Amino acid sequence: MARARTAIIAGNWKMHYGPNEAKHFVKEILPELGRVLYNSSQTLCILCPPSISLSAVRTALDTLPLSLQNYIELGAQNMYFEEMGAFTGEISPTMVRELCSTVILGHSERRLYFGETNETVNKKVLAALQYGLRPIICIGEDNEQHETGQTERVIQEQVRNCLCNFPEAQRDNIIVAYEPVWAIGSGKAATEEDASSVASMIRQLYRDMYSEEVASTLRILYGGSVTSENINEFMTHPDIDGALVGGASIKTDFVKIVRNVVGMM
Ligand code: PGA
Repeated sequence: MARARTAIIAGNWKMHYGPNEAKHFVKEILPELGRVLYNSSQTLCILCPPSISLSAVRTALDTLPLSLQNYIELGAQNMYFEEMGAFTGEISPTMVRELCSTVILGHSERRLYFGETNETVNKKVLAALQYGLRPIICIGEDNEQHETGQTERVIQEQVRNCLCNFPEAQRDNIIVAYEPVWAIGSGKAATEEDASSVASMIRQLYRDMYSEEVASTLRILYGGSVTSENINEFMTHPDIDGALVGGASIKTDFVKIVRNVVGMM
């Protein structure tokens, strides 16, 4: 059965690969990634290096044939919500937009180490939409919440507070990444059943907030210890549209993940 939405595989490099290493890594993976994605209009791949390496990766992506540039995009890992000003160390939506189509927002590491809340994440998401960026909004329960049966409550709160107030015209350009915090970098991915039931819940919440039509366009990714070994299980569920990949995205395994997904489309 044909899938309802294009698949997305995003690679979150986290704090790995400065400009030089980024250049080398992209050179290593691009030829094969290009071959895999060539003629596959159903899968979008988004590379998200550290902000200091965005230019280096942009330069490499610009050498790709135009037909492929539609399927391999660039994303930032974070941004501030103001357009400019005295915010030392931050980058703005307009700066990100010069190089990228996409921005990851509200990653659990940003929430944990840099004090981001549902409210600041929502401000960033609204700014991203205003400046023409496609947000990947990260949500997910932590280990304690998972163990004490609070997943549903936490997800509801995050969806209602991070995905609210979207302008009508932009509600269909949203990506949510469900990333249970205990699964990130632990090698212990969620089960396909758990991931898919939360994905269905997220879509239902989005439906309740906006409409059936808008909810059918929402792309929901699973993230947390995704590898080429387990990606197929997640992709079998109709509510999971792809993955946000961390550790495996800075290795050649990333290309295998993309190849597996293309093979399932
Ligand atoms: P992981 O990270 O794939 O290394 O678990 C995922 C993420 O943090 O986005």
